[in-house]
Amino acid sequence: MLRTSYIFLLYALSILTLPACGEKPAPASGGASAQQQELNAEETAQYLARGKEVAMSTFAAMSSELLSAMQRGGVAEAARYCKLSAYPLVDSLSEAQGAAIRRTSLKIRNAKNRPGEAEKQMLQAFQSLHDAGQLIQPSVQLAGPDTAVFYAPIQVQPLCLQCHGKLGETMKASDYAFIKELYPGDEATAYAEGDLRGIWSIRFKR
Ligand code: HEC
Repeated sequence: MLRTSYIFLLYALSILTLPACGEKPAPASGGASAQQQELNAEETAQYLARGKEVAMSTFAAMSSELLSAMQRGGVAEAARYCKLSAYPLVDSLSEAQGAAIRRTSLKIRNAKNRPGEAEKQMLQAFQSLHDAGQLIQPSVQLAGPDTAVFYAPIQVQPLCLQCHGKLGETMKASDYAFIKELYPGDEATAYAEGDLRGIWSIRFKR
């Protein structure tokens, strides 16, 4: 289990430490109003770095909780953990980091994670890149003059399949019955390793 968790973290690191590109060019002349409306290159780099750090530490905290819950009582226990504790954990991490941390997807399990309009556009853009076999880079965008939002892809790893995989193949029917009881409206299944599961959406005050 320790080994799995180690590989898990290495994988997260490899995603999140990828060099950032695809940033919007800085405004040609940086007047005060132009700076308010757009992120300059320096700010973009800063939010990309902070976003990666927050996503990585949140992922590490959630993974270690999830893994120990799975060790205690398998998928049932871990799914119960997600239901009861994932939000308080993310809320306290959000507070500590001065950021609002969310995970969202085009196919959601928890109704609280339903994407907003901007998130949906980002999910669709990332999905198109993924379908075209291209590497997806994290990105930062403004949501109003005083809020910057960091987006990064969340990819499916073998461990995820126990709860997000194909019913009767990579996911046991008995485990899924339990998940379905907790989340009757669940859409987040039938994934394969390497699929795009969703995105991080992390908001910072500017
Ligand atoms: C033990 C079962 C379990 C495992 C393993 C698991 N998940 Fe989940 N996942 C859940 C549950 C339950 C939720 C809904 C609760 C929540 O919002 O965290 C969820 C929610 C999510 C969400 C938020 C969007 C939504 O659908 O509500 C993402 C993204 C996600 N999982 C990705 C992953 C990834 C990536 C992995 C593997 C690294 C993984 N999950 C492993 C059970 C699991």
